[in-house]
Amino acid sequence: MSLRDLVPRALRGATAYHVPRPEGVRAKLDANESPWPLPADVAEALGRELATVELHRYPEADPAALRAFVAADLGVAPAQLVFGNGSDELIAMLCAAFGEPRQGATRARMLYPDPSFVYYAIAAKSHGLDAIEVPLDDDMQLDFELADDAMRGAAPNLAFFALPNNPTGTLWSPDEVAGLAVRHPDTLVIADEAYLAYGGRTLLPRLAGLPNLIVMRTLSKIGMAALRVGFLVAAPAIVDVLEKVRPPYNVGALNQRAALWILSHQRAWIDARCAEVVAERARLAAALATLPDVRVFPSEANLIMFRVGNGRDGRATRVWKALAARGVLVRRLDRPGPLAGCLRVTPGTPAENDLFLAELPAALAASAA
Ligand SMILES: Cc1ncc(COP(=O)(O)O)c(C=O)c1O
Repeated sequence: MSLRDLVPRALRGATAYHVPRPEGVRAKLDANESPWPLPADVAEALGRELATVELHRYPEADPAALRAFVAADLGVAPAQLVFGNGSDELIAMLCAAFGEPRQGATRARMLYPDPSFVYYAIAAKSHGLDAIEVPLDDDMQLDFELADDAMRGAAPNLAFFALPNNPTGTLWSPDEVAGLAVRHPDTLVIADEAYLAYGGRTLLPRLAGLPNLIVMRTLSKIGMAALRVGFLVAAPAIVDVLEKVRPPYNVGALNQRAALWILSHQRAWIDARCAEVVAERARLAAALATLPDVRVFPSEANLIMFRVGNGRDGRATRVWKALAARGVLVRRLDRPGPLAGCLRVTPGTPAENDLFLAELPAALAASAA
């Protein structure tokens, strides 16, 4: 018996979530962040606001002010909200709160399309849930009949659907996802709307009629990634269970205050930046589509996934390295399986995107040699 034996079997061969940070990055386009910092005068005003936070006290255990603001903004009851240290934490909390194996089963299950957000798999593994992965088709679309069959067969406790999806950018039908929630009332169906600001349509209006539907959001993708604030909207009965596993004081006082201040003072600025990203996404996608040996997947998120060559020759990884050497950091997805040959770029500022588009042809040429 060693300490290693204490680690759940599912975790032993797993790798940690790793984000490379090479030297000399001139355009950081790898993390689906907003490229825009707050304007200097706004940052100063925020600084003055944050100076009033009492750092020697614990934060409000229940982020009441933020909760009231978000509830009013979304037109839901405050009791329908749970806040997390990013939506990552909410995903983990869902596993912890709803991870009991069904009668007759030894383990609970979580279903999600594949490829999708990597933390679904990590959270399932680390909470002892078996992952049921529904493969996307070659266009990164979801076959809802396949998903329906998988849900019927596996009876997952939780089913996650990122609308739009990361890392593919594709948007699957929100109505079809709601349909799955209707047909599988004893599965919690989570509409992960992390990228809603960049495309798609919210399932929030369907919540009232679907007690097993959860809508999850984050501030990370709309300019506040550093704050680590996410929230979900669900029936109060679900919220009550989640509150039992929420770590005390999980959202820091500075984060609560900054989120509330930015959301209530800078909404127009946020919306304008998101619109700019959508326009830049179109420009980037159009430019990428003209390049030989590049296949662009249509995206409704602040990301564009593209495949280089046939995906089987390691060329995408060489392109990634060549871009990084030129100071342009994108996300390398390339690995055997459906993401073979794929890279993902997050639209940056127009200047950063110009740099990416200027450096990519040389990186492609170098990788072909
Ligand atoms: C689909 C999806 N959901 C949730 C998250 C987690 O976001 P955060 O923990 O920053 O709120 C991400 C992050 O990339 C994501 O892509």
